[in-house]
Amino acid sequence: MKTLFKNIKQLLQVRDSGVLKVSGAEMKELPSISNAWMLVEDDRIADFGSMNDAYTGDFDEAVDLNGKMLLPSWCDSHTHIVYAGNREQEFADRIKGLTYEEIANRGGGILNSAETLQKTSENELYEQSARRLEEVIGLGTGAVEIKSGYGLTEDAELKMLRVIRKLKENYQLPVKATFLGAHAIPSEFKSEPKIYMDLVIEEILPEVARQELAEYIDIFCEKGYFSVEDTNRLLTEAKKLGLKPKIHVNQFHSIGGIKAAVDHGALSVDHLEVMTSEDLEILKNSQTIPVALPSCSLFLSIPYTPARDLIDAGLPLALATDFNPGSTPSGNMNLVISLACIKMKMTPEEAINAATINGAYAMELSEEVGSITRGKKANFIVTKEIPSYTFLPYAFGTNSIDSVYLNGKILQH
Ligand code: NIG
Ligand code: FE
Repeated sequence: MKTLFKNIKQLLQVRDSGVLKVSGAEMKELPSISNAWMLVEDDRIADFGSMNDAYTGDFDEAVDLNGKMLLPSWCDSHTHIVYAGNREQEFADRIKGLTYEEIANRGGGILNSAETLQKTSENELYEQSARRLEEVIGLGTGAVEIKSGYGLTEDAELKMLRVIRKLKENYQLPVKATFLGAHAIPSEFKSEPKIYMDLVIEEILPEVARQELAEYIDIFCEKGYFSVEDTNRLLTEAKKLGLKPKIHVNQFHSIGGIKAAVDHGALSVDHLEVMTSEDLEILKNSQTIPVALPSCSLFLSIPYTPARDLIDAGLPLALATDFNPGSTPSGNMNLVISLACIKMKMTPEEAINAATINGAYAMELSEEVGSITRGKKANFIVTKEIPSYTFLPYAFGTNSIDSVYLNGKILQH
């Protein structure tokens, strides 16, 4: 089945297959073709070009996009979409003056979500999570990473990971799974956190690996959660089982997590709201991609990741949602690119690069998705009639999406 999309006002993020991520000054460029056509064959992007040099081959169906733009789907490399219930009460408590930390210290926060998830059946957890996944697909996300970490017992962590596996099987977008058993210390281990780490490393992790339930390993390396020593220990063991690190670091404090991540060849380091010059130097000498989560900063009123420092130092940067019940109850990548421009002073080109090709890289998916490239999956967004791509981050809160396609098929509403 060949579909020709013609009269595309602008075809955005057009790349050669060799480009897997963009760094530093390269992020300022968003290669595009004005007045373009694109040919989709079955589930793949087959070809594209300028309307001045019209497509002359055969096709089964033509779609006229007169006045609309086309860009690759968002690649959201950091989410916690699988969770049970919500935490709107904690939101209301924070408005009245409690801090995120105070709420966590009295047993709220991640532990609150874990208690709810443990009581929720696997089917119900799947149903709640599938609704959120469908929502973000409708918002233009065409590849996603999902973490465990709201189980905190062997049964509940494996339940979460099985739900992620079922989402992978039932939905038409690439899904990557990350084991985040070391997300918070359960209350019963409060006085002996090392015993919880032993459980994660010696019992749960081997089972996750044996059942091939995750590609990546994560840990919340932060004061009051897990130490650099815990991080080194977990990542050493996970590596033996073939799980690459993508870790939560420097959200509230810089405690050495970036060095630990880089030492273990982490694929990504995520959050980075608090960065020292030493942290930046370590990243400059690594293959690890930094990931910023600006809607978490918005929701918690915490600093934004210093994107300018990172990009101006020549580093790549990816943007993701962090969709979760506590710090970011939103999976909207369109809002993320707006916040990146408004609050982090990223240019629209940098933000779109960070949310597509670099997001794909942060999930090892940039040979499949993240750009308009011959042979890649036909996962893309068609915009409404907008004046330019800058309108996407500019008109924050406006829905500029006309339709989304996964594997060459339009999503039916
Ligand atoms: O990425 N920082 C750690 N974990 C999540 C939020 C956890 C929660 O509050 O439920 C995050 O922000
Ligand atoms: Fe997170």
